[in-house]
Amino acid sequence: MQITPSILNADFANLQREIERVPSADMIHVDVMDNHFVPNLTIGAPVVESLLRVTSHPIDVHLMIADADRWAPEYAELGVASVSFHVEATQAPIRLAREIRRLGVRASLGLRPATPIEPYADLLSEFDMVLLMTVEPGFGGQAFLDGVLPKIARTRQLVRAGGTSVAIQVDGGVSHETIERCAAAGADVFVAGSAVYSAADPDAMVRELRALAETAAPAGA
Ligand code: DX5
Ligand code: ZN
Repeated sequence: MQITPSILNADFANLQREIERVPSADMIHVDVMDNHFVPNLTIGAPVVESLLRVTSHPIDVHLMIADADRWAPEYAELGVASVSFHVEATQAPIRLAREIRRLGVRASLGLRPATPIEPYADLLSEFDMVLLMTVEPGFGGQAFLDGVLPKIARTRQLVRAGGTSVAIQVDGGVSHETIERCAAAGADVFVAGSAVYSAADPDAMVRELRALAETAAPAGA
């Protein structure tokens, strides 16, 4: 069970300090938005590069950008731990995943809430992680979409049936109120933005979320 705080709702003027507030984080989730794939603009490769210099935490990049085929390898080359790109923004997801993996970086397939997992059922072993959005991507602080829970469960079944060890990450509206449902459905990596950074003690919230996820996970997970 991994908790990956998103810095989207942290103080962008003090990102190093904000990352230092969550020493218990397993990875730091960095949301890259381009104002095309989503109606919001955040940060790009130069900021990711700067963050890598000031933290030993693995960086988990979430690209919410158009033409991921063109731009994603640049992030992998920076030396982040994982790169998630959206299948809706990719022409050739398998070629891109292989390119990212060839650079020694974990490749992750992102799906918007309404995008089905089934077309990728036979291709999951090409990825290290699947990122299931539990809000429409673009903004932090949105309400969790319970309607995605069956897709989380189906993804877990497909991963199990395929005998692979693909991680299942959920992103959007994950909090102490919703994380147990996600874990029970089969998620094992949890992005939490506003839940962590609006907490009085962000690191205590990271540990609380992990404990809740571990308790709610199905036996044998
Ligand atoms: C939303 C981003 C998320 C966001 C989550 O498009 O991908 O990572 O930061 O924020 P919360 O946890 O507040 O929903
Ligand atoms: Zn994200």
